[in-house]
Amino acid sequence: TLSLSAFAKKKLYVGTNAEFPPFEYLENGKPVGFDIDLVEELGKIMDYDIKIVDMAFDGLLPALQMKKVDLVIAGMTETPERTKTVSFTQPYYTASQVIITRKGENGIKSFDDLKGKKVGVMLGFTGDIVVSKIDGVKVERYNAAYAGIMALKANKIDAVVLDSEPAKNFVLQNEGLEIAQTEGAQEEYAIAVRKNDTQLMEQLDNALTEIKSNGKYQELINKYFK
Ligand code: ARG
Repeated sequence: TLSLSAFAKKKLYVGTNAEFPPFEYLENGKPVGFDIDLVEELGKIMDYDIKIVDMAFDGLLPALQMKKVDLVIAGMTETPERTKTVSFTQPYYTASQVIITRKGENGIKSFDDLKGKKVGVMLGFTGDIVVSKIDGVKVERYNAAYAGIMALKANKIDAVVLDSEPAKNFVLQNEGLEIAQTEGAQEEYAIAVRKNDTQLMEQLDNALTEIKSNGKYQELINKYFK
């Protein structure tokens, strides 16, 4: 007799950190968002069942290395430091770091203005790298973007530095905040896989190319970026 598992699809375990709207966030306790839809679409093309595993952002690459997940999609920027330990697919989104302040406090207009200020960043995010380079800045590290936003609203810090789209999202949902009219250097989001996982890398890259050209990618952009 044929076992049922002969018909079961292969599974791909996908690590994410669902505290980063609109890329990934919880809705009724379930991870949803641009990245989640994107990886579901890639799974369809590659013929895999997608299993989302939600965890702390700084635990994602260790979990990948330890084979607890097969890939990571988390609005994760490809950085020189990260490429030492994992490989990244072709980029799927271009972002930048922006400064969030309380409305009307016009003292902070550029990254230079952060000198001597208390600035909130998130543990392990690229924003931390950007802010830590500024002379005389007082860096406050938070576990998640939401915690930084709350500290800013409570006057505990002067600014938060965060990726552009999540920043817009938090500003829309939290009265009294605004984004300073300045932009940091651009960065590229890509999917991370283990260095030796060349087959998965190739499948993901091909599927990404397909999604970018068949209209699906644009559909997701229109759905999540207002
Ligand atoms: N792009 C930034 C980085 O790579 C922040 C990503 C945070 N993503 C998340 N799902 N919490 O460090």
